[in-house]
Amino acid sequence: MKRTKVVSALKGTDLGKEVNVKGWVRFHRTSKAVDFIAVNDGSTINNIQVVVSPSDFDPDTLKKITIGSCISVIGTLVKSKGKGQAYEIQCKSIEIYGLCPSDYPMQKKGQSFEYMRKYAHLRLRTNTFGAVFRIRHHLAMAIHKYFDEHGFYYFNTPLLTSSDAEGAGDMFQVTTLDIDHDKIKPGAEGKTDYSEDFFGKKVNLTVSGQLEGELGATALGAIYTFGPTFRAENSNTPRHLAEFWMIEPEIAFLDMTGLMDLEEDFIKFCVKYALDHCQDDLAFLNKMIDKGLLERLQSVLKEDFVRLPYTEGIKILEEAAKNGHHFDNPVSWGIDLASEHERYLVENHFKRPVIMTDYPKDIKAFYMKINEDDKTVQGTDVLFPQIGEIIGGSVREADYDKLLSEIHRRHIPMKDMWWYLDTRKYGSCPHAGFGLGFERLVLFITGMQNIRDVIPFPRTPKNVEF
Ligand code: 4AD
Ligand code: MG
Repeated sequence: MKRTKVVSALKGTDLGKEVNVKGWVRFHRTSKAVDFIAVNDGSTINNIQVVVSPSDFDPDTLKKITIGSCISVIGTLVKSKGKGQAYEIQCKSIEIYGLCPSDYPMQKKGQSFEYMRKYAHLRLRTNTFGAVFRIRHHLAMAIHKYFDEHGFYYFNTPLLTSSDAEGAGDMFQVTTLDIDHDKIKPGAEGKTDYSEDFFGKKVNLTVSGQLEGELGATALGAIYTFGPTFRAENSNTPRHLAEFWMIEPEIAFLDMTGLMDLEEDFIKFCVKYALDHCQDDLAFLNKMIDKGLLERLQSVLKEDFVRLPYTEGIKILEEAAKNGHHFDNPVSWGIDLASEHERYLVENHFKRPVIMTDYPKDIKAFYMKINEDDKTVQGTDVLFPQIGEIIGGSVREADYDKLLSEIHRRHIPMKDMWWYLDTRKYGSCPHAGFGLGFERLVLFITGMQNIRDVIPFPRTPKNVEF
């Protein structure tokens, strides 16, 4: 018999007919007259209620169907007489696929997220994580749809590279490991050769696909990447991961205004897409996790993002400090803004997203176009409520000599950069792009508080279980 997904059963598609639903038990209430079993199969946040007459079943078997068990139910889909659901299944037969012993770590409701992180392999079966990962999926689809519809090509950049795109040195180096399996047989002396390089070359995991993305944009016009990115920062914050997913569009002939327009339009499209495609999951998260979530998402759509030069932003922060607002990190022109500064601007001062522009060149990467003042660059960070920086982007330096002199000034090894410089040597063109941290977008849209809870298997310093 064909399986009916819970999401379609709950729409009453096969009303009055026999259906077969398969899934995991979320709840089982027993009484003399009737048993209620709530089943969820991951297709929706909602469960289907299965109504069982205990007299029709072996009582010992029925008792064993505890929370977490996996079952297949055949029964008639009927209108529910009870409150809380429109349809339910009048059970005819139950097949047990897998029982769930009482030490099931996800059995109790209301466990802390910290507790659940220890069970990343099982937390996926809870309501909250089901909602988060369905939303994450829809956002990934939204991203491809947006760029496809706007004429961007999906461009795949390498994960193994020999360059440091951000020049920050936060890279994981790749080591080749040669295990001789014949020699690991019992009794034999094992042989494992570690070599610090990749067949004679130093190679690291990519920190950003941007530089290769620029090669794509300066040939195909407009591209975007969407893939894993690795940062060896020892940052134990609710906003940092060692492995995260980044979306990096890169566009030929785009200037600063065009870049900011794209950043804003793209984020708004993603927020709107989630509101349109994830209504049940967002309603659940709004009720259980963050009561202000839906309102915040709606307000992002309505308001224009503030566009604020860094120098103006520093003045606002200095003024706030003068008026008694305490910052742990002192404010002055030239500092790299701390998250408390970014959040003050977004949450206290403007109360809406801010695109900050024209940062001091020394706190930004080597590839950003330098302004006429020779002090600031055409970089943009999009700062969001609850999150801080969600996007980093810039107009790129298109002038060969200026880019080369910046590479020298920063002592970036030239041997790593010759191919990048070729884009400026041969038919250079003005271009711009940005990077959006996918998990930070998912964090904002789900209202979750910790980035470890919006990626299925988080990697942070000292955490690579699973
Ligand atoms: O600001 P970042 O470092 O910029 C770049 O990598 C540029 N190459 C992007 C470009 O212009 N193509 O990173 C971009 C975004 C940040 O704004 C943030 O959202 C996210 O990536 N990000 C992280 N997310 C999670 N964990 C980390 N450790 C992150 N580091 C950056
Ligand atoms: Mg940044």
